[in-house]
Amino acid sequence: MKKHLAVIACCLLLHVLRAQQAIVSLSDTGGTVISKLIYGHFAEHLGRCIYDGFYRNGKIRMDIVSALKKIQVPVLRWPGGCFADQYHWKDGIGDKSKRPVRINANWGMVKEDNSFGTDEYLQLCKLLSAEPYIAGNVGTGSPQELKDWVEYLNYQKKRNVSFVGIGNESWDCGGNMNAQFYSDQYKQFASFLPDYSGTRLKKIAVGPYKEDYQWTETVMKNIPSDKLWGLSLHYYVFMDGFGRKGSATEFSETEYFLSMKKTLFIDELISKHSAIMDKYDPQKKVALVVDEWGIWTDVEKGTNPDFLFQQNSLRDALIAATTLNIFNNHADRVKMANLAQTVNVLQALILTKGDSMLLTPTYYVFDMFKVHQDAKLLPLHIATPFYENANESVAAVSGSASMDSSGVTHITLVNIDAGKDVPVLLGNLHYTRIEGRILSSGSLNDINTFSNPSHLAAKDWKGFEKKENGTTVILPAKSVCLLTAFPK
Ligand code: AHR
Repeated sequence: MKKHLAVIACCLLLHVLRAQQAIVSLSDTGGTVISKLIYGHFAEHLGRCIYDGFYRNGKIRMDIVSALKKIQVPVLRWPGGCFADQYHWKDGIGDKSKRPVRINANWGMVKEDNSFGTDEYLQLCKLLSAEPYIAGNVGTGSPQELKDWVEYLNYQKKRNVSFVGIGNESWDCGGNMNAQFYSDQYKQFASFLPDYSGTRLKKIAVGPYKEDYQWTETVMKNIPSDKLWGLSLHYYVFMDGFGRKGSATEFSETEYFLSMKKTLFIDELISKHSAIMDKYDPQKKVALVVDEWGIWTDVEKGTNPDFLFQQNSLRDALIAATTLNIFNNHADRVKMANLAQTVNVLQALILTKGDSMLLTPTYYVFDMFKVHQDAKLLPLHIATPFYENANESVAAVSGSASMDSSGVTHITLVNIDAGKDVPVLLGNLHYTRIEGRILSSGSLNDINTFSNPSHLAAKDWKGFEKKENGTTVILPAKSVCLLTAFPK
């Protein structure tokens, strides 16, 4: 009887703890390195990402470059997206006055004057100190055309471009192929891509969209894993799929809840695709490359629907931080990821208007999380209260931790509960000094605007205290927090 009562008391205590407090314990045995490439970006010839974004009046915008340098962009995927499978790279080299004008049939039938081409892209990557990652044209291109591009990059220009995507979304805008046909195409294209000038190519195959596990199975089975550096995965957070995307700024708490639930789903997606990859690549040599991700909403009123220009709120920041924590925790398989898209398109880091620019809440998340780049993952165990809405619940607190080469530990925690602060007991964290940064705001739909560009920004934060049993932290509702613990 006594034992029975003790069990009940223990359960109640656990329930109380679970209901109100999160317990986060750190493992001090880090091993896997969080590839810095997880913090990569994507820029497509779409709307105002390149033209009137990165590239204005015939020049690369240096204000954008310096903002992006600050967050240490490790890799930039280009030129698409769907654009890639209709792009012929030779249109974009040589004398600008002689470059042909084409029609961008994917994105609004606008004129593409090819003034931003391969050399301009390489220049942009150099200015950013980012690695180039080109997406090759499989849909309307040929193995010869892709081979010539790689020869131009690595033999003629000696630019050591290693990341080459063999097509984009070949199951849809990239050619409506089935997985068997695509993997045969992959093998054909890949077999004509030599390692010019000693640059070892890292070839990336088109992977699944969301939970198309059959695609992953077929491609992994058909392409020998030593012929594959990575398999891509695309995942967007929509309200209801392509039909109803929802507004970027006018959403209810229930819509917010749903977008966070969809964000958290990427954890399951990665685990399940990775488990299929394990069958063919048990040593996890093939990377899962999440080379398009983010929230996709309706465009801003009055803008071209094909330009995918959307505002970026605190909700976007919570989505970005939650997703990056998930990527970090899957660092054994996820070796690269590219947010869609850097400037003026979808979940952008930077929005521009004429010569002005502003940094979005998502930008500040990348600024806070850059500390994880190439650091050693310290697995976290998190017991968290739930965030409940309309009879559904999701974990309120998520996080990831790493140790950098100087022994400093970084923990990024997110509380997605819209209304409740969550007290956290942080165990097994040893330090002599600790610092904090936070990104939050009064409302989930708060944004930065051209009249108030710094409404949301990461700030110093002191919501934690060292106690005998660990460090106690109060994670404010709807916040992204970074703790930096110094050993000395
Ligand atoms: O990022 C916008 C588009 O989304 C890309 O062009 C395509 O690959 C995806 O469907």
